[in-house]
Amino acid sequence: MQRKVITGIVAALFLVTAFSMAFAEGGNARKGKYLYRKHCRTCHGVNASDLSPSSKLQKEWKALQADPSSIPCKADWPNLSDSDLNDIFTYMIDFAKDSPSPAKCS
Ligand code: HEC
Repeated sequence: MQRKVITGIVAALFLVTAFSMAFAEGGNARKGKYLYRKHCRTCHGVNASDLSPSSKLQKEWKALQADPSSIPCKADWPNLSDSDLNDIFTYMIDFAKDSPSPAKCS
């Protein structure tokens, strides 16, 4: 009896984790939002294009993530770890123009 309950709890936890990971593309969108504001909004929306997650489609953000060297300002970025960059792109993709909740970064 007790074992069944424990198995059930473990299975539920596994499902929750798998679902949140699938939704977040492996990164942390909340942290990505913070990092985008801190490292990218210093220019974007000030002296560069007013870039927000909703500026692009998910597939466009995915293409940029796959080839960041194609981004014109890459050389001006601060030193971001792969994990930070993954979080930023996760935020952009999760809240893109064609996502369930497009976000404008004001
Ligand atoms: C030092 C200023 C600066 C910083 C910091 C900066 N950018 Fe840019 N970015 C620019 C400029 C200038 C352009 C080219 C002209 C434009 O889009 O305004 C550009 C262009 C881009 C483009 C292409 C624009 C488009 O519409 O396709 C993307 C994507 C981009 N930046 C993403 C980022 C991300 C992500 C970060 C943070 C990791 C970032 N930028 C940080 C100045 C900056």
